[in-house]
Amino acid sequence: MLNEKFLWGGALAAHQFEGGVVNTSKGFSVADVMTAGSHDVPRKITDDVVDGNYYPNHIGIDFYNNYKEDIALFAEMGFKCFRTSIAWTRIFPLGDEEEPNEEGLKFYDDVFDELLKYNIEPVITLSHFEMPFHLAKNYGGFMNRKVIDFFVKFAEVCFKRYKYKVKYWMTFNEINNQMNYKSNLFGWTNAGVHFNEYPNPELAMYQCAHYQLVASAKAVQVGKSINPSFEIGNMIAMVPYYPYSCNPSDMVLSVQEMHNRWFFCDVQCRGHYPAYSLKLFERKGYKLDISEEDKSDLKKGCVDYIGLSYYMSNTVSSEAKNDLKKSVDGSSAYTTKNPYIKVTDWGWGIDPEGLRYALNIMYERYEKPLFIVENGFGAIDIKEEDGSCHDFHRIEYLREHIKEMKKAVEEDGVELMGYTVWGCIDCVSFTTGEMKKRYGMIYVDRNNDGSGTLKRSTKDSFYWYKQVIESNGELL
Ligand code: BG6
Repeated sequence: MLNEKFLWGGALAAHQFEGGVVNTSKGFSVADVMTAGSHDVPRKITDDVVDGNYYPNHIGIDFYNNYKEDIALFAEMGFKCFRTSIAWTRIFPLGDEEEPNEEGLKFYDDVFDELLKYNIEPVITLSHFEMPFHLAKNYGGFMNRKVIDFFVKFAEVCFKRYKYKVKYWMTFNEINNQMNYKSNLFGWTNAGVHFNEYPNPELAMYQCAHYQLVASAKAVQVGKSINPSFEIGNMIAMVPYYPYSCNPSDMVLSVQEMHNRWFFCDVQCRGHYPAYSLKLFERKGYKLDISEEDKSDLKKGCVDYIGLSYYMSNTVSSEAKNDLKKSVDGSSAYTTKNPYIKVTDWGWGIDPEGLRYALNIMYERYEKPLFIVENGFGAIDIKEEDGSCHDFHRIEYLREHIKEMKKAVEEDGVELMGYTVWGCIDCVSFTTGEMKKRYGMIYVDRNNDGSGTLKRSTKDSFYWYKQVIESNGELL
């Protein structure tokens, strides 16, 4: 049985569902200059908010004006927790102001009060791809050491203001995405940087990563000094690499590729750089700006728990030196198709057992509590004439993943704090900017082109998940 305090719930990120970008005091974030794309057409990152472009995040699903109705639906499902982020630019619209913005702070007071009214614990990410655009454009994002202080100040303001309302925090969402420094999207959303504009993008990424790791460690220390009972975690995109075969070369390759997955988590959990990265810096002659004070901060700012997203696994083959463009997710030149698993319409491998595997290897490596803060099924949903939506594929996906999660806890002894379904209410897709890639258990009438009434209605998965929570995961 799962612990009775197990935190079941749902997860979102401010920029993907809040809206409230125009006609409020919120400043533009890096997500607010991203246009809508699709599976085949990448989102454009414009140089500012430029007339004539469609920016889906500006309205999101308008949680800003609907939060009471939406939270009531979460409560009806029985959520024990709700994970969201605080939009950095609602608190510091430009990022470098002296004083925070009261209107933004008040909005989150209201949201947290509404959640607490239903005994729903807020689980808060400080930075979920929402760096102020001004910091990206005028400071160079996290390539600039000064941005560490701006982030820490933002974190401190939030920790102080919500000291008695929020216990669970995370510093940076999927901080390890940027390891794929060839992708414009990840560098921009993690760090406000286009790595390909630097003579050596890999070196730039490691420097930028260092500043963010220091910012995360400093935020942990500040948070603990404000309220020692805070639980402050990191957040890692966990996409394990499998070796394609038992060929020893595939095995070694998968270990090496996993270094790219572990790097950020290793530093945030152990407080120092892992040997494999020090060797890489030495081999490539990378001299990073890492001070003695930084090293001491990293040591003092280790996280309490590991938040992770899990959607899929990847497979690497030593014989599959791919063209990156053709590879399954672009994160490794050796990625190859796994013949044992099916994929979603967006090409994401459906691999429930991979979740059990991921939880095991993470727990064995760090022995820290884990929290699955994202897992979900992005699909095209059909709303019937009578308003119903029979999303049985989503139910199947979630059911199979929860089964494997339970095995990891009940049979393998993994310490797991909770599980939140990604995009519990339909929202704007991060990678594509689409609405039609839906994850929700609540349908929102909004289309890719921005049309629709924004009306909410329940899907079949809503009732299924309610029963899962009620039975603490026994009735699947
Ligand atoms: C994670 C992000 O990468 O995956 C979320 O933390 C994102 O922000 C989720 O929405 C699903 O990705 P997508 O592109 O399908 O929305």
